[in-house]
Amino acid sequence: MVNALPPGPKGHFLLGSGPDLTRDQLGFYEACAREYGDVVPLRMGPYRGLLVYHPDAIEEVLIARNRDFIKSPGVRLLSRVLGDGLLLSEGGVWLRQRRLVQPAFHRQRVLAYGDVMTSYTARRMAEWTDGDVFEAHAEMIALTQVIVAKTLFDADVSDESYSIAEALNVLIADFGARIGSLLQFLPDWVPTPANLRTRRAVRRLDAIIYRMIDARRRSGEDRGDLLSILLNAQDADDGSRMTPQQVRDEVMTLFMAGHETTAVALSWTWYLLAQHPEVDARLAEELRTVLGDRPPSVADLPKLRYADMVVSESMRLYPPAYALGRQATIRSEVSGYPVAPGTVLVLPTWVVHRDPRWFEDPGAFRPDRWEGDLARRLPRFAYFPFGGGPRQCIGNGFALMEAVLLLAAIAQRFRLAMEPGQRVTPTPYVTLRPEPGLRVRLVRR
Ligand code: HEM
Repeated sequence: MVNALPPGPKGHFLLGSGPDLTRDQLGFYEACAREYGDVVPLRMGPYRGLLVYHPDAIEEVLIARNRDFIKSPGVRLLSRVLGDGLLLSEGGVWLRQRRLVQPAFHRQRVLAYGDVMTSYTARRMAEWTDGDVFEAHAEMIALTQVIVAKTLFDADVSDESYSIAEALNVLIADFGARIGSLLQFLPDWVPTPANLRTRRAVRRLDAIIYRMIDARRRSGEDRGDLLSILLNAQDADDGSRMTPQQVRDEVMTLFMAGHETTAVALSWTWYLLAQHPEVDARLAEELRTVLGDRPPSVADLPKLRYADMVVSESMRLYPPAYALGRQATIRSEVSGYPVAPGTVLVLPTWVVHRDPRWFEDPGAFRPDRWEGDLARRLPRFAYFPFGGGPRQCIGNGFALMEAVLLLAAIAQRFRLAMEPGQRVTPTPYVTLRPEPGLRVRLVRR
């Protein structure tokens, strides 16, 4: 049975809840759940919106009715950078590309990336000394960036790290400014300072991405990695290959989605460990017992149980993808409520992961809550840092392995102590970044 819509915030007569979202997106999602319940209708600028908090309703959106929805207009803002790659493509194009890319993420393949992950981490750590002070988030970005480029595209982008990070910061700030404002409706070709800045940043990234692609194309080599898969793929029906633009979009998407999120997850993990010495001590103890003095490898993963729980718990409190967005293409329904075509759905991971119905003492950082059978007892979508259904993160296994290996390799040698006097705020851009960053001092163990 389809019911009338439940109550929700009225908002501004013209802009709806747009100004509330711009002011404090996470706080607004929390307030709506508190005041109105599990399904909350609202207006977001020109769109009808629906906030969906109940795990069963989220499951309905991501699995049972996934065909009724596409990615939301907010997520589609990323197309200026990512083009029509895996994250944003839809329908037949998405399915063909997903099948093509999937083999690079099969379990055995991902395990083989472990050596690159640990060797790049060791290389980076060789430059660190006791007492160094650095910005941990920038450091994690630089590390995850070289790892994704090497594993998926066999390219070394170490020398370009700074340039990539700078362009990325411009694009992320631009996304942040647009997402909650009317600016998002301004076409890209209008030469505003922001549009020009964005275009320059995309051109810089393009230059790096095309250099990787062109070098491989010229070499004519098939190295069996993802880049070769993309360049050599032929359509089963007509034998056509992907256009250079399509290859660029896939490479850019995997490069971006493949490092920013993992870096964010690790940064929040350092932040939490610095504040919880008892957790840090137990982690150090596990690393000593399992590894002794040798660096971690994939063979150690099954034994690094506590490190794994630390990562899970960190992503519960600070999910890098803090909300998922969808838009209805046809008339649909969620939890028995009608959803009109065009409605934008927001699934606020941030709020669901902190819901006391599913997590006892939800604000506390307690990795050992994952020790028993919690994961099995939870409703499927009470914890979903990687989304779910057909559009679930393709890099789920890659990311978890990378996060645990990097955490183990670094925490074995160093403690990252927060420099005093910082106020770090979870800030929702494309991902949930720690702002204004995370200044830490290295303490050798
Ligand atoms: C901690 C790290 C990561 C988190 C939290 C994360 C989270 C997510 C989430 C929530 C989605 C689904 C988005 C939606 O349904 O709208 C997604 C999709 C995606 N992720 Fe990740 N991700 C991570 C790491 C990675 C890595 C390492 C890669 C690649 C190497 C990657 C590549 C992708 C791609 C290509 C998609 C789109 C998949 C599709 O629609 O077919 N991600 N990610």
